[in-house]
Amino acid sequence: MTDRDQPKSAFEVYGQVLAAERIRCDADSLAVWGHDRTTSFQADPAAILFPETTSEVAAIVRMANASGHALVPSGGRTGLSGGAVARTGEVVVSLDRMNRIEKFNPTDRLLTCQAGVITQVIQETAQEKGLFYPVDFASAGSSHIGGNVATNAGGIRVIRYGLTRQWIAGMTVVTGTGDVLRLNHGLIKNATGYDLRHLFIGSEGTLGIVTEVDVRLCMQPEPQRVLVLAVPQLSGLMQILAAYSARIELSAFEFFSDLAMRRVIARGRAVRPFAGDAGDSPLFALLEFDQSAEEEALDIFEALLATGVVTDGVISRSDAQARALWALRENISESLAPERPYKNDISVRIEDVPDFLVSVDRLVSRAYPDFEVCWYGHIGDGNLHLNILKPGNMAEAEFVAVCHHISPELFAEVHKRSGSISAEHGVGLLKRDFLGFSRSPEEVAAMRAIKAVFDPNGVLNPGKLF
Ligand code: MLT
Ligand code: ZN
Repeated sequence: MTDRDQPKSAFEVYGQVLAAERIRCDADSLAVWGHDRTTSFQADPAAILFPETTSEVAAIVRMANASGHALVPSGGRTGLSGGAVARTGEVVVSLDRMNRIEKFNPTDRLLTCQAGVITQVIQETAQEKGLFYPVDFASAGSSHIGGNVATNAGGIRVIRYGLTRQWIAGMTVVTGTGDVLRLNHGLIKNATGYDLRHLFIGSEGTLGIVTEVDVRLCMQPEPQRVLVLAVPQLSGLMQILAAYSARIELSAFEFFSDLAMRRVIARGRAVRPFAGDAGDSPLFALLEFDQSAEEEALDIFEALLATGVVTDGVISRSDAQARALWALRENISESLAPERPYKNDISVRIEDVPDFLVSVDRLVSRAYPDFEVCWYGHIGDGNLHLNILKPGNMAEAEFVAVCHHISPELFAEVHKRSGSISAEHGVGLLKRDFLGFSRSPEEVAAMRAIKAVFDPNGVLNPGKLF
């Protein structure tokens, strides 16, 4: 079968389970659903399918096995590693129509929902019930919970609440053979062998298509305060983290460079927090904590100011002010996007961050003397986003090639500290060739063996991850 024949065959094959309007092969749909947020891959899907139930997904997967189609599971398409890009005539399975919240169980504090429910809808539903879903990030308004599960999404509150994994109490998943597994059923305790849930979390759609999840909710925290600090030296960031985490529980500890902040302000997505000299600081730290810790937080601030570790600070006194300060950090990704940055999403243990920052800083100044480099990230959990900006006059392919050429040097620094080349964005297509910097050959062999169990014919997301 050639790629050219596939759109027709997709109608013939999947038309047995889906009504015609839930199979799209028009050029616009192929362009939209063939992609995630990465820009360096060309999408070329054969068709887009819109199932509404787990049994429709299972039927699609069985048909794909029988007809030899490859499938690309697709959520909110906010991924940054190409995990949801269909490059070679695959059939995209969009979870867009699987967006129902099915049940709220207040006793267990569980929200059961289909995989296509938007993350922010889960947060808002939790709030309506007087509860809290703590996983949060800039793309929460469009990402799907199923995609969050597929990449084990992290975001801004990991230091206090952990990653998506911690909040998934059960799931329904269709494996690569079309079998339906219902896992853990929302139980807190379940000592009956392998917890298969955790294999599917972070598997980037290579083992199964998650169709339903039991999301655990928790009590709402106190109202939060946000503090933004002007930091003159890179080394000051971890001194600030140490000073605060010794005395108060932080909900978030983020940082960004002046260059990153300037981009956000230039695009009108936030306003400058400081006037005068502090406004020229090269780095900023953003901290979030319970309002009851405010006095303590200000004491620590005074001590840091006295020793010159910070040169200024601004604290929120209302939710609106807190949102305005968060806008400085949360809008960085969107503000840089038009410049098509080459994205790095790396992590090391927190104790290794200070020395890692020095090495990366040195490497970046030497390797990218002509490129602007934007630093930001969730430094409180060891995760650094290093975005290299493409000079306006350089062709994208040439720019990506130069960055790819430097990546092994950066990843060698990660490897030296047993860190991760993809802390939270996933491996997808973008980081696949570099997986060996974070995973041993034995680990990759084990992953391939697991893939063979759940997807023996390799129909799910081929070419991603490894
Ligand atoms: C973020 O922290 O802003 C997100 O991971 C997105 C990004 O790195 O661009
Ligand atoms: Zn991030």
